[in-house]
Amino acid sequence: MKDWLKTVYSETSSSKLNKHYKNWANLYDTDMSSWGYAYPLQLNKILTNKLKLKKTIKILDAGCGTGYVAEVLSKLNYKNITGIDFSEEMLTIARSKKIYKKLMCQSLNEKIELRSKQFGLIICTGVLTSGHVGPSALHELVRILKPQGFFICSIAESVYKKNGFEKEIKNLKNLVSIKSISKAFVALPNNKNSAKSRMYILEKLN
Ligand SMILES: C[S@@+](CC[C@H](N)C(=O)[O-])C[C@H]1O[C@@H](n2cnc3c(N)ncnc32)[C@H](O)[C@@H]1O
Repeated sequence: MKDWLKTVYSETSSSKLNKHYKNWANLYDTDMSSWGYAYPLQLNKILTNKLKLKKTIKILDAGCGTGYVAEVLSKLNYKNITGIDFSEEMLTIARSKKIYKKLMCQSLNEKIELRSKQFGLIICTGVLTSGHVGPSALHELVRILKPQGFFICSIAESVYKKNGFEKEIKNLKNLVSIKSISKAFVALPNNKNSAKSRMYILEKLN
C-alpha cells in the first residue's frame, strides 16, 4: 500500500502536490480512517466543550479536501458550510457527501475570491504545512472572518516555527488573539510517518 501521507507532506511543488491529491482522492477517507485521523475528534471536542456557537453560523472549511473533518460539523448540525480546496478530485468526493452549501476550487495561497468579514468560524486542518498552504495565507483567512469569529486550525510542531507560522500569528496580534493552544498529539496514530500537531483557536478582534 502506498503511503500517500509521506508523499504529500514531503512534496515541495504545488502542481505535483495537486496531482498527488488527484490520485489519492478516492482512497483518502479509507486511509485516514485506518490511520486513526485525530482531527475530527479534536474538532468535536472543541465545538462541544470549548466554543458554544449557533448552529446557523457561517463556516468556511479551508482546504476542505474530501470533507472528512467537516462531517463532524454536519453531525453536530451545522448546515451553513462553504469549502475551498485546490483539488477538483478531492472536491468531487466532498460534493458527494452533501454537507456543503458551496464548494470552491482555488488555491489558498492566492487572494480568496470572497468578501471580507463574512464567516463566524473558519476551520483548517492538515493544510497549513510544507508544500501546502503557507503562513502568508493566514492574513487572507482572517480578512474573511467576522469580528469575534473563530479560526480553528492544526499546525504540526515541526513546521510551526520553522515555516514561519509562529511569526505570522504574532504579526496578526492587532487582528486576532490566541484563545487556546492544545497539547501536542499525534495526528495519525496508526501511521509511523505522522507528525505531532497542536490545535490552535484564534479569535478575531474587530
Ligand atoms: C491532508 S488534506 C486535509 C483535508 C481536510 N482538511 C482534512 O482534514 O481531511 C490537505 C488538503 O489541502 C489541499 N491543499 C493543498 N494545498 C492547497 C492550496 N494551496 N490551496 C488549497 N488547498 C490546498 C489538498 O488538496 C488537500 O485536500
